[in-house]
Amino acid sequence: MDVLFGRNKKEQLEPVKAKVRGQIPPWLQGTLLRNGPGMHTIGESKYNHWFDGLALLHSFAIRDGEVSYRSKYLRSDTYNANIEANRIVVSEFGTMAYPDPCKNIFSKAFSYLSHTIPDFTDNCLINIMKCGEDFYATSETNYIRKINPETLETLEKVDYRKYVAVNMATAHPHYDAAGNVFNMGTSIVDKGKTKYVMFRIPAEVPEAKGKGKRSPLTQAEAFCSVPSRSLLSPSYYHSFGITENYLVFLEQPFKLDILKMATAYIRGVSWASCMAFHPEDKTYIHVIDQRTRKPMPVRFYTDPLVVFHHVNAYEEDGCIVFDVIAYDDSSLYQLFYLANLNQAFEQNARLTSAPTLRRFALPLRGDQNAEVGSNLIKLTSTTARALKEKDDQVYCQPEFLYEGLELPRINYSYNGKPYRYVFAAEVQWSPIPTKILKYDILTKSSLKWEEEGCWPAEPLFVPAPGAQDEDDETPTHAVGMPRKVTRTMGGAAHTCRGGRAAPLSLPASSLR
Ligand SMILES: [Fe+2]
Repeated sequence: MDVLFGRNKKEQLEPVKAKVRGQIPPWLQGTLLRNGPGMHTIGESKYNHWFDGLALLHSFAIRDGEVSYRSKYLRSDTYNANIEANRIVVSEFGTMAYPDPCKNIFSKAFSYLSHTIPDFTDNCLINIMKCGEDFYATSETNYIRKINPETLETLEKVDYRKYVAVNMATAHPHYDAAGNVFNMGTSIVDKGKTKYVMFRIPAEVPEAKGKGKRSPLTQAEAFCSVPSRSLLSPSYYHSFGITENYLVFLEQPFKLDILKMATAYIRGVSWASCMAFHPEDKTYIHVIDQRTRKPMPVRFYTDPLVVFHHVNAYEEDGCIVFDVIAYDDSSLYQLFYLANLNQAFEQNARLTSAPTLRRFALPLRGDQNAEVGSNLIKLTSTTARALKEKDDQVYCQPEFLYEGLELPRINYSYNGKPYRYVFAAEVQWSPIPTKILKYDILTKSSLKWEEEGCWPAEPLFVPAPGAQDEDDETPTHAVGMPRKVTRTMGGAAHTCRGGRAAPLSLPASSLR
């Protein structure tokens, strides 16, 4: 466990050839980019939470059956300031830091008054996002960092707020077939309102006269917003679902208390301590119609739950079907405090609710004649129910598909469409993945892979050239914990907020 969580990872600046066991299919050519925490100790100071660690970028270049690996720390402003001071001087979500330890309480108070919404970190450690031809390291703050996908060099710092009014944004955007990016973020107490903002970044931008090539971010467009149910306690969310015509967003009772967050600095507590799960509350399901750019007026809700990862969503016979990995509480986040990540972690740190693959179904059209209490879902493909209640309210009961999985991926060619397979890391009551799982939704059966001394990262599906459909067995090839990855690369393992690769819909020859 110490290998995974304890030590700072060393950069591998020069590409090193990996030892390949077995054979890599000749068609699998390209570069797999990953991102994740790599350094948790700076000088004498240590981050509190696994998700706070400094971002380490990884690249696996796959050419002609061989793999070369390199890694480099993201040279964010946060990284540079910390290394220069030889201690943590920039706050992360689970660690509050003070630039000057000699500052007294009055100067702290002044800083608090100056920054009700804090200036967040640019330690972008969760994912890699592709915008047009550009690649960005991303996290969940308003900052993203452009990177060179070949050399892993850190380039410009970009503030989302310059283009879209969001204080936070997800690190799990979606892409359509043309490469347009869809994402969402939270705008906190802006002009007296807190809202969730959905935005689109085009894949291509026409060149402006005399201005040369412009970043697609300059053409980012907010196309819808959903008001938060609470001005001062917006929901935390890590991802969302998208179908051909709709976006699915869960406003869950895992909330960020803005007043507590604004006073966290002066109180000497982390921002993470300002997040709480409210089991007495509901989870609201918002459906946004991309054509009208408006949320559906029906109030869909379900029981309180915590979702980090949406799996997929699609439309079927007048319904939206969407799949998520859901928990009954927020215990996952708590377990990744470094104080818990010790030798006895697997024995002592147990989730109080298991991550389960749950399928929801929502009717797209209301039925005026349906009786209160009746099930509005007539699909034969799922037992998920949507029960009509009074006043245009619908209570959704999911179908439980599989227990004990996280870090889900699909064949992204099927994103937003009916699909069959979920690839994931199998986790039971401990959040440490032990196996790679291929779950067949149609037959409700699964295939698993494991190997002594290996901890799986998030699997990645790469369709073979010419693959026509999901049932074609030949092209099925999951990358992510390939057999070549050994303990020494454990630092690349994707925890909940660990590494992600560039869009999956790209042909194998351009993995990155
Ligand atoms: Fe994630």
